[in-house]
Amino acid sequence: MSSASWPTAAHLSPANLEIVPIGRAHLAGFHAAVDSVAKERRYLAMLEAPSFTRTRRLVLDSLKAGAVHVVAVAAGEVIGWCDLRPKTAPTLRHSAVLGMGIVAAYRGQGIGSRMLAATLELAWARGIRRAELNVRSDNAPAIALYRRFGFVDEGTCRNYICIDGVDYDALLMARLAP
Ligand SMILES: CC(C)(COP(=O)(O)OP(=O)(O)OC[C@H]1O[C@@H](n2cnc3c(N)ncnc32)[C@H](O)[C@@H]1OP(=O)(O)O)[C@@H](O)C(=O)NCCC(=O)NCCS
Repeated sequence: MSSASWPTAAHLSPANLEIVPIGRAHLAGFHAAVDSVAKERRYLAMLEAPSFTRTRRLVLDSLKAGAVHVVAVAAGEVIGWCDLRPKTAPTLRHSAVLGMGIVAAYRGQGIGSRMLAATLELAWARGIRRAELNVRSDNAPAIALYRRFGFVDEGTCRNYICIDGVDYDALLMARLAP
């Protein structure tokens, strides 16, 4: 899918934006949204989305394993996602790793806040007791969002991400269930 099929930001209003659990009908849109954010080469560990087949498998497997995964849908198109994937080791299953992103044109309008609120509420209800993430230290909007939702810094992972030959630090941030 090309970005041409996303609705224009001007068409976005709280009335036509839904935050919903991901379903099979959203998989192609989710894949396109991940690919778009990854290709900015700034925010995600991946620089492009895995193939659609692999993405589909990863999502369906992680849902089976207890992940929470919501998407933001505007005028029928997926424009963002937020997921929390529980770790697999028996001693770490109470703990889940957060990932999120929004197609560039839709940022800074509170959609990330809505997705994160919905994801955390579902996660706590499901018994997840710790949410954690790594975020590039220079990603100020994401860090501001996480802090506002009670995530605290647990450390700096030095030279954690290497993009185009440049190393970047990342913050390890986490919050516990209320
Ligand atoms: C991070 C992201 C999901 C946030 O979603 P969003 O819809 O833009 O977030 P919101 O509009 O709900 O809130 C963003 C916050 O960042 C703040 N912000 C925006 N630009 C900022 C900047 N340049 N510096 C500091 N804070 C900034 C906003 O003011 C807001 O905080 P506030 O409500 O306390 O004022 C979105 O920006 C995104 O997709 N970024 C690219 C992908 C990414 O970084 N993913 C996370 C990887 S760990």
